[in-house]
Amino acid sequence: MSAEAWSGLAGRLGGRFRLDEPLARHTSFRIGGPAEAWAEPGDEEELEACLREAAGLGKPVTLLAGGTNVLVRDGGVRGLVLSLEGTFKEARVEGTKVRAGAAIPLAVLARRTALKGLQGMEWAVGIPGTLGGGLVMNAGAHGGELKDVVRRVGLWLEGRREVWEAERCGFAYRTSAFRGLPGAVLLWAELEMAGAPVDGLKARMDGYLAGRRASQPMEPANAGCVFKNPPGDSAGRLVEACGLKGRRLGEAEISSKHANFVVNTGGARARDVLGLMEQARQAVRERFGVELEDEILVLGED
Ligand code: EPU
Repeated sequence: MSAEAWSGLAGRLGGRFRLDEPLARHTSFRIGGPAEAWAEPGDEEELEACLREAAGLGKPVTLLAGGTNVLVRDGGVRGLVLSLEGTFKEARVEGTKVRAGAAIPLAVLARRTALKGLQGMEWAVGIPGTLGGGLVMNAGAHGGELKDVVRRVGLWLEGRREVWEAERCGFAYRTSAFRGLPGAVLLWAELEMAGAPVDGLKARMDGYLAGRRASQPMEPANAGCVFKNPPGDSAGRLVEACGLKGRRLGEAEISSKHANFVVNTGGARARDVLGLMEQARQAVRERFGVELEDEILVLGED
């Protein structure tokens, strides 16, 4: 579709609207074909303009959030891909309540709340990604998860603003009702946290960061754990037991540090990553009779 079709948004957002934007630039995997159109709305009015323009053109809308837990296929994503910026990155703390925008990085939220003596987000200190993406996945680590602190979520759905209480959000292990809700745009979340001494919270976060550095690859580029853990076991342990650490396909490799991570050693394609995931899934199925489920979200087309 031509630039003319999108002229309303291009005029309004200037350089924050682009056609054929390579998504490899915006994903932690450094993998992914182009977005047909890309926009970075800075507040709710700009977001509304983006959603209306896409609806008018009959184009699907995809939220990339932090781009950290996703694999974008090599053919890219049709329609409009959004990355929320500006006011969506703000957070306000009042007593033990926190109201945070969907684009705030989880790690920033963890630090900011801990420094205010609020407990409940320490587990997120080493997690790349944003609150909005984290809500979709019910992100978690070290026994904590967003589900524990989220009270309500503000979202844009089918042309209007809604507020969902936590019970309605369907949070469960690495999933939520938002995972299967195309067209929903998460705007903010309200958290209820508990007071605790700052020193203890800081020490806990330092411990988590050290543990993470020791057991997970920080580089090359990756998207975190690719499979969910099967009940009572670890996907990393199962894949390692199949002898697949270090297995390569193209420029993608099953990490030799943690077998539930696939790393991009430079120029890997989505199809290489998916191929490795399929090899791991098949090996674990044959050897252990366990079916590994995707943890990462796979977006776009071949
Ligand atoms: N293990 C292996 N080989 C491996 C990796 C792990 O034998 O290659 C073993 C470890 O030795 C350990 C067990 O498996 O005994 C569990 O490993 P680890 O503590 O690394 O935790 P995990 O279950 O692999 C989960 C989350 C991580 C999160 C960590 C820390 C999932 C799928 N993974 O990993 O989350 O950071 O716990 O809390 O839930 C993510 O969501 O992207 C992610 C990486």
